Amino acid sequence: MSDRKKITLPYLYEKYQRGEPITMLTCYDFPTATFQEQAGVEMILVGDSLGMTILGYESTLPVTMADMIRHAQAVRRGAPTAWLIGDMPYMTYQASVEDAIRNAGRFMAEASCDAVKLEGGREMADRMAGIVAAGIPCMGHLGLTPQSASSLGGFKVQGRDAGRALRIIEDAAILEEAGAYSILLEMVPDRVCQIITERASIPIISLGSGPHASGQLLIFHDMFGLYPRFRPKMAKVYGNAGEVILNGLKQYVAEVQDKTFPQPEHWFGLKDDAFAELAALLKEKETD
Ligand code: KIV
Repeated sequence: MSDRKKITLPYLYEKYQRGEPITMLTCYDFPTATFQEQAGVEMILVGDSLGMTILGYESTLPVTMADMIRHAQAVRRGAPTAWLIGDMPYMTYQASVEDAIRNAGRFMAEASCDAVKLEGGREMADRMAGIVAAGIPCMGHLGLTPQSASSLGGFKVQGRDAGRALRIIEDAAILEEAGAYSILLEMVPDRVCQIITERASIPIISLGSGPHASGQLLIFHDMFGLYPRFRPKMAKVYGNAGEVILNGLKQYVAEVQDKTFPQPEHWFGLKDDAFAELAALLKEKETD
C-alpha cells in the first residue's frame, strides 16, 4: 500500500501550472492497480480498450457499462489514491445528453471514479457540458478515437493534413470551452499536439502525440508485451512480461509432464500420528 495522499483536481492543475508532466496509464484489474498505485501513477484510465486487451474483442464497440463498472471497481480497490477515470463505452453517451449524464454518474456512484472520459470533438460538446454541469469532471479525447475507427479509416494517425489538423485544434478549444478538465490526444502529429498544448489552459495528455503535452499516457498491455495481436509504434516496451509468462507456462507444462513439479515444498503433508489414526479408521470401516 502507498502512503500517498489522494490525487485531486487541484493537485493535477498545480502540477500542470508548474509545467511538470502528469503520469497516466490504463488499468483494468486489482493487482495491476496495486502496482500502479505503488509506482506513483497519478491518473489511471479504466479504458474501454479492455474490450480488446482483456476480453479479446476486435474493437472496443461491444464493451458495456456493466463491463466497465466491474473493472473500474476492481481498479479502485487496488488504487485508492489515484485519479480514476472511467471511460464511457460506445453508445452510452452518443445518443443524448441525458444518457451521457446518467452513465457518467454510474461511474462516480458505483465505482468511486473521480472523472469520466468521452471520445469526440464539437459534436460531443453538449454531452461534455451536460456531464460537467452535473458536477462530474470530464476528459475529452481527440485524434484517433477508437469508437469511430470505422469512419476514421482504421487505427491510424489523425490530423496529418492541414485541414484535419485545424479541425482537431478547433475541437480542442470547443471541448475546453464546454468544460473539459483535460484532453487526451491520441495519435496526433507532435506539432499539432504542441499547438493545442500551447493554446490550452487545461492539461493535454499525449498518447503517441509527442513530448510537448502536459502529460503522457500508455496502454498498460502495450508497455509489457501483454497484447498478443499487435504492438503500436507509440508503445515503449518497459519489460516483456508476456514473454516471461509464456516461458513460465511452457516450463510448467514440461515439469508436470516429466513429474519434476510438484516438489515437497508445494504440497501439504499429514503428520505420522494422524496418518496412523486415519489408517486405523479406514481399516475399522473395512471390517464393518
Ligand atoms: O480505452 C482506452 O484505453 C483509451 C485509450 C486508447 C486512450 O481510450
